[in-house]
Amino acid sequence: MNLSDCNNFQDFRKLAKKRLPGPIFHYIDGAADDEVTYRRNTEAFETCDLVPNVLAGVENVDMSVEVMGQKLDMPIYCAPTALQRLFHHDGERAVARAASKYGTMFGVSSLATVTVEEISKIANTPKMFQFYFHKDRGLNDALLERARDANFEVMALTVDTITGGNRERDLRTGFTSPPKLTLGSMLSFATHPMWAWNFYTKPKFDMPHLSGYVSEGTNVAVSVGNYFSTMLDQSMNWKDAEELCAKWNGQFALKGIMSVEDAKRAVDIGCTGIMVSNHGGRQLDGSRSPFDQLAEIVDAVGDKIDVICEGGIQRGTHVLKALSVGAKACSGGRLYLYALAAAGQAGVERALGNLRTEIERDMKLMGITSLDQLNRDNLRFRNKD
Ligand code: LAC
Repeated sequence: MNLSDCNNFQDFRKLAKKRLPGPIFHYIDGAADDEVTYRRNTEAFETCDLVPNVLAGVENVDMSVEVMGQKLDMPIYCAPTALQRLFHHDGERAVARAASKYGTMFGVSSLATVTVEEISKIANTPKMFQFYFHKDRGLNDALLERARDANFEVMALTVDTITGGNRERDLRTGFTSPPKLTLGSMLSFATHPMWAWNFYTKPKFDMPHLSGYVSEGTNVAVSVGNYFSTMLDQSMNWKDAEELCAKWNGQFALKGIMSVEDAKRAVDIGCTGIMVSNHGGRQLDGSRSPFDQLAEIVDAVGDKIDVICEGGIQRGTHVLKALSVGAKACSGGRLYLYALAAAGQAGVERALGNLRTEIERDMKLMGITSLDQLNRDNLRFRNKD
């Protein structure tokens, strides 16, 4: 199987599984507890059906959207994800270049492996910085200032990782950052020699935004769950979020909002966006899916703040369904991470290209020429009284 065989999410997943040592593949692929929420995130899109119109003259379609003041050429963007250098030696550079090519936004994590300064030179499309609120306030200030100086347009504070999710696949494989050389991991590196060669011969794995503040994750191997539980500040509250929002003084989102109550508070503290998200099912298993929860949140705050639907998206039709309910845009992690692992920049380009092609085709088949023509009238939910 090669990149040219990858026509959808599952194809990229298969190729990533082939290319990556087991512990790294399962870090991306896994979720919390029994992974019920992870599965539901995608299944939720099957609880409703699109109702198309025809004879609409659809030779030209415009799939651009404006979200948090940024004009995107397509309604889906690459959510920030950590540790990309582990998945491909180009790491975040590959994603920045691919997103730039498709004119869509991409996120850079606090736990990124390439600096915001370098990313800023590479990218010519909107950039989001993902913020983890650490116990170390000096680190928090440094993260904010670096992202501002590197001209990141959007700041997103992650609010659903107050403690580590129970990622049992990581416990089973012993996944840590950086990867530990155990007998088991050495065996999986030996059976994936290309990955191991690239990992050990290309510039050293690093999380440069943390340098000088914490050594966990770079010089000291820890699981991601452990990192969250020990390095992040569990006392973080609405006042902290409000202060951060004011300090940033620009486009600011809370990432990981699931309740109407919290969505309203996000508006109150001055946010310009929220990601309805459960962290890809990686934190609280048994929590509701973003798509299931989208309508009530849009009804409550959709006219005051940009609502982004994040999680479970694998198809163009999933994006159209979320936009029909009222999301301004969608985002996802695994949808480009498998592709990054499979083939670096070329992989991410193909994943975004596939989605673009699907969205264009689906818009034509829906009989629309721009995304603002979507609304709840073109959706029917099943099994509803
Ligand atoms: C994760 C974090 C790092 O879910 O976003 O693994």
